[in-house]
Amino acid sequence: MAEKRIERILVTGSEGQIGSELTRELRRRYGDDNCIASDIKDTSSGGSGDRGPYLHLDVTDRAAFKDVVDTQRIDTVVHLAAVLSATGEKHPLRAWNVNVTGLLNALEIARESELNQVLCPSSIAVFGDGCPHENTPQETVLKPTTIYGVTKVTGELLCDYYVRRFGVDARGLRYPGIISAETLPGGGTTDYAVDIYYKAVEEKRYTCFVKADTRLPMMYMPDCIKGTIDLMEADLGRLEHHGDFNMASMSFSVQELADSIRRHIPEFEITYEPDYRQAIADSWPASIDDSAARREWGWNPDYDLEATTSDMLRTLTKRHSEGKLYG
Ligand code: SER
Repeated sequence: MAEKRIERILVTGSEGQIGSELTRELRRRYGDDNCIASDIKDTSSGGSGDRGPYLHLDVTDRAAFKDVVDTQRIDTVVHLAAVLSATGEKHPLRAWNVNVTGLLNALEIARESELNQVLCPSSIAVFGDGCPHENTPQETVLKPTTIYGVTKVTGELLCDYYVRRFGVDARGLRYPGIISAETLPGGGTTDYAVDIYYKAVEEKRYTCFVKADTRLPMMYMPDCIKGTIDLMEADLGRLEHHGDFNMASMSFSVQELADSIRRHIPEFEITYEPDYRQAIADSWPASIDDSAARREWGWNPDYDLEATTSDMLRTLTKRHSEGKLYG
């Protein structure tokens, strides 16, 4: 499989938590007009679309998807459109349709239009019953208990199939929970690790939907952006894995997260009202072994919990004082 240059990028799901910030950084590196933002929303909410082209796109509509790729002369698709874990449990068929049909469309279009690369994010949600809970290895049993996890395992297998069978350059990461101050996540189980900062700044209290000792792998957005682009730009010849890189940076319990906030806001209070998302969180690893990503493309995160908390609180406190905490 010959490696080709990234020149014209289409980002699907560009208005989401990762999409809005990744699009901005891709535009900075590859040029505003060379990165087309797209989402199911009719118009950009401003996050990604303020500096470059934005298109409405339903990724389950293969003809419309292919038309955008061909007319915009796209060579690389960053396929972020997805339904997350908590929303998926409420709408399992929709999760399957968006996550699996959408990804299959991206891979089929990559094959037909001979694209240079497709980035297909996966998630810690691929893990479930029977895999080691601590330092979960790259290669282990994948028996997720959520439809989101089922779609992500399917996606990883489809990526590897398209690599092997058709020579499509498909790459993917198992993202942990992503923490960011720009665009709120929507419908995920790890959303508490973002919500808590907003509520700490706004009300100095937070009611968490998972228990105090719930420990999950997390990552701050600058590391997520850096790692994603590093994988996209990695030398294909060095990659032994394709659609399923474990990617970690920190793991902490909700209690430890609350303690780190209290070091900045001593009066911060947290209470716990676990709901259906507790079972989802409990089915996921507490920590991840990402040695394959470190070895094959040099993954090396910068942010730990303390650095994340300082940065989040600084950003949100400033926005709150300007009366635009939520943008
Ligand atoms: N953050 C996602 C979720 O909670 C996991 O990849 O659904």
